[in-house]
Amino acid sequence: MEWSWTGVLYHPGWVVSTVILGLVVRMQRKGSWNPRACPVDLTGKTAIVTGANTGIGKFIALDLAHRKARVILACRSQERGQAALEEIRRKSHNSNVHLQLVDTSSLRCVRDFAHRINQEEKRLDILVNNAGASGLPKAMTSEGLELSFATNHLGPFLLTNLLLDLMKRSAPARIVNVSSANHWRGVVDFSHFHGENLTYRLDS
Ligand SMILES: NC(=O)c1ccc[n+]([C@@H]2O[C@H](COP(=O)([O-])OP(=O)(O)OC[C@H]3O[C@@H](n4cnc5c(N)ncnc54)[C@H](OP(=O)(O)O)[C@@H]3O)[C@@H](O)[C@H]2O)c1
Repeated sequence: MEWSWTGVLYHPGWVVSTVILGLVVRMQRKGSWNPRACPVDLTGKTAIVTGANTGIGKFIALDLAHRKARVILACRSQERGQAALEEIRRKSHNSNVHLQLVDTSSLRCVRDFAHRINQEEKRLDILVNNAGASGLPKAMTSEGLELSFATNHLGPFLLTNLLLDLMKRSAPARIVNVSSANHWRGVVDFSHFHGENLTYRLDS
């Protein structure tokens, strides 16, 4: 059989694959998640979102505020937290949004934050452990902990435990840990957590 460009261009295979591609795109569009379509109302519920001044945390806090929850933005910077607070109040028309400062890399700071929450809040229905950072410098905190481990794991773990009784009293309550898939690539070396053998992948 003789080969020709016209034969390739008008081959019925193109029509079939275009139709299949169109159907796949259509199915994906139909299946996409639209948070606004979810009717859940959180009136009377209290939520804490750590790292709520930007990124995923700010989006979560805004969504919870839209649903009429009392939302506490747990941020480490007064300035950035205040800017997010004003934006979320304005966009959600919910004035029951508040700012409390916490640095998850400092266990002392986490304890102070949890103490304030336990003193001031009657209930806690949702805790979103979102604050986190990657690519931090090779460093130890003043409490002798490796900085990334303290920020992403120890701080949130301590915070969750210190708020657990309040959450149990508010049951049914939910704890959401925003995480990453990157842990699959690494191997845990427990000596890192005391500042030993600190050879980071990016440095090598
Ligand atoms: N985006 C992604 O593709 C991705 C992928 C995997 C995992 N994640 C995880 O998802 C979460 C949110 O990610 P994102 O992309 O929204 O990050 P982002 O835009 O960098 O926001 C991180 C938030 O965490 C706060 N934060 C960092 N260190 C903190 C500390 N020591 N104490 C208190 N707050 C602290 C930041 O505060 P400042 O503004 O003051 O720095 C910021 O509000 C993180 O836990 C991240 O590890 C994200």
